[in-house]
Amino acid sequence: MKLFSFLFLILTINVFGADEFSCGTIECDEFQVNISNNADLQNGLSTYMNYCYGCHSLQYSRYKRVAEDLDIPIDLYVENLIYDGSKPGELMKISLSKDDAINWLGAYPPDLTLEARVRKPEWIYTYLKSYYSDSSRPYGVNNLVYKNVSMPHVLEDLQASLPEENYNKVISDLTNFLVYVSDPSARERQQMGVYVLLFLFLFTSFAFLLYREYKKELK
Ligand code: HEC
Repeated sequence: MKLFSFLFLILTINVFGADEFSCGTIECDEFQVNISNNADLQNGLSTYMNYCYGCHSLQYSRYKRVAEDLDIPIDLYVENLIYDGSKPGELMKISLSKDDAINWLGAYPPDLTLEARVRKPEWIYTYLKSYYSDSSRPYGVNNLVYKNVSMPHVLEDLQASLPEENYNKVISDLTNFLVYVSDPSARERQQMGVYVLLFLFLFTSFAFLLYREYKKELK
């Protein structure tokens, strides 16, 4: 009987789940994560600092860590990407207050340090592509992925001025940057994984040779 209700539950979840889209009212676009290219991540960081950081903090991350990880000389970084006089060792917090944000925008822009883990990269990528005109909304725009979103289409001018392919590259770099920032040590771990496997392979080869020698003695 228990098994029956369990199967029933699974079946109903599947039936109700069938109409669900992975990205709001549409399916997410495919997105290939790549956090190994520093030039792309630097582009993403630059877009982020220019277009997003006014509203969205990255408060679990430090300026200096990002600069080091992405190979950006610290003086260049301070000169070009820190606008509020913060020190490189500080956390990436912003000064927008909750009350002001709610007054001006109707919602508080959430911190985005972990966004790529909360929402998934393909969600962010598709979201940034899915704004459309809707005169019933305060900013004249709406979003297919996040219905009635309070965020204006901050990349509107960029999207209008670039060929689609180039715009997609901008938001793809931006998304990859958010993936990097949500787990900054992922790249080190992946590299370490390769070394560990190499070590195991070498060690196994030696162990096997030794085993062969011992086996000879046993005969
Ligand atoms: C003018 C302020 C403002 C700017 C600039 C801005 N956003 Fe937003 N953003 C918001 C607000 C407000 C929300 C919350 C929307 C809501 O709850 O309806 C939001 C929500 C989001 C969300 C969804 C968060 C969630 O999981 O619910 C993402 C992702 C996001 N913004 C990314 C970006 C990116 C990337 C940029 C830069 C290209 C950016 N935002 C620039 C105000 C802003």
